[in-house]
Amino acid sequence: MKEKLNKEFLDLRRFDNPINPIDLIKNITSNPTIENDPFYIVDLEDICNKHINWITRLPRVEPHYAVKCNTDQMMLKLLAFLGAGFDCASKNEIQKVLDLGVSPHRIIFANPCKQASNIKYAYKMGVDYMTFDNEYELYKIKEHHPNAKIVLRIITNDADAVCRFSMKFGADMESSYKLIETALNLNLDLAGISFHVGSGQMTPKTFSESIQNARILFDYAREKFGCKLHLLDLGGGYPGSSEPESAELFNSISKEINKALDEYFPVDFFQQLNGNDEDKFRVIAEPGRYYACSAFTLCVNVIAKRAMNQTQLQQIQDQESIVSNAYQNASLIDTSKSIMYYINDGVYASFNCLFYDHAECFPILIKDRPTDEKLYKSSIWGPTCDGLDVVVKECHLPELDQSEFLVFKNMGAYTLSGAVAFNGIPLARCIYIASTSWDTIKDAFTEPSDEPLANNLLKEATSNSSTCAAAATLAFSRAQQQQQQQDKLILDNQFKSSSCCSGVCADAESLHLNEKLSISEDGVISAASCLDQSTVDCAITC
Ligand SMILES: Cc1ncc(COP(=O)(O)O)c(C=O)c1O
Repeated sequence: MKEKLNKEFLDLRRFDNPINPIDLIKNITSNPTIENDPFYIVDLEDICNKHINWITRLPRVEPHYAVKCNTDQMMLKLLAFLGAGFDCASKNEIQKVLDLGVSPHRIIFANPCKQASNIKYAYKMGVDYMTFDNEYELYKIKEHHPNAKIVLRIITNDADAVCRFSMKFGADMESSYKLIETALNLNLDLAGISFHVGSGQMTPKTFSESIQNARILFDYAREKFGCKLHLLDLGGGYPGSSEPESAELFNSISKEINKALDEYFPVDFFQQLNGNDEDKFRVIAEPGRYYACSAFTLCVNVIAKRAMNQTQLQQIQDQESIVSNAYQNASLIDTSKSIMYYINDGVYASFNCLFYDHAECFPILIKDRPTDEKLYKSSIWGPTCDGLDVVVKECHLPELDQSEFLVFKNMGAYTLSGAVAFNGIPLARCIYIASTSWDTIKDAFTEPSDEPLANNLLKEATSNSSTCAAAATLAFSRAQQQQQQQDKLILDNQFKSSSCCSGVCADAESLHLNEKLSISEDGVISAASCLDQSTVDCAITC
């Protein structure tokens, strides 16, 4: 049985109206007695809004959040509550998600090269969907999880992605034909095709090209072997920053995906093939960055500073450096000194994204200062004793005080999940904020009764269809109804003793909110005449 109140609750702050995390940080740090430790503001509203945006713009695609991106417990609980599935890369991630009470059917083990013991664990826990991209993996799966529903990961053209994966994963088309044959010869349950266009993908066309390739393989499996694949997995690669360009790119990607799905996998895809709609064709995706990036705002403290001497200056300049243009008013630059700042979070912790995620991070200064203050050549270093621990190699900043707080936005993706407390320096803690959606989502974090979360959500959905949880529920209702049956079987057979959320299940066919929303060319979401605009406003802003 879960605790009545989760410990993260202690770090939760509720507001009547949405609040800007930076304003909140200014408020928190204005308290002179505050400790200087780094902290994150985690905006739960932002995660809700992302989810609403996803189901509105990609109504045919069920998001399976990529847990590796950020394993924050509150975030996982919220996404589970909103009806998302999960992409897990290992036994530990699977365990983490199952421990929340999520049904194993809402999980895909999306790591094409898995440790045998992890496959055995998936088998034991009823996690059936898993990816592969080579023959050795097929034999391993056959041995340890013979009933697995296997999904072939194909290679993509990820040249325009910030983090590329195709040198490591994905079968080319030629190998894919052979792998399909081998999988079927082994009597494995070949379920579908997946791909990943690379994280931080800038070119929407990559998605449609990969969807087209997937269709070729669907046809090949059916025509050559009579095997009807039923799952298309669009992987990750969706932008999630709060910058307007990021939203624009997401909109372009979703348009491209919707167009390609209509062309290669139309809604009546299965009926077209054999006039039979008993088998359900599903499209899923594995967004990570999309959900996590903008929800996390990091606040750090300047713990020390010193003037740079000429030798140090030269050494830093010899390194490949990125010069921030954030404070670049040339007329204010004073070359008489250069300053090194040391902050209490660095590349071993939150800023590991500088290495592993090719991120560029620049601070926002929150202390009020005159606009014509002089700027000095500056560098920002992490708190460990390692010379590698540099966050910003070179930028121009007004002179910062010791103990001054700095803010870094968009710090939710591939930051905390790779952070370690090297040198004994503690990781930033999270402060969660919620406002207008709180009444809707609060049951995600408490266990008010023995009922599964999904039942509580169902009540919300039917009592108030204008809430974001309701919107999320309704959007998934059809897929989830089917899943509910499967979940029930699992619950009955395998997990009788655990308090398991049996998927988000709403018998709300008549209320398909997302089907009643439309998106204009310029990206404005509006209601069809059968819904009043206030319902939509709430769904979008909640
Ligand atoms: C298999 C898989 N799926 C999904 C993701 C998430 O990608 P993104 O954060 O770009 O959405 C990753 C990222 O590494 C991945 O490896």
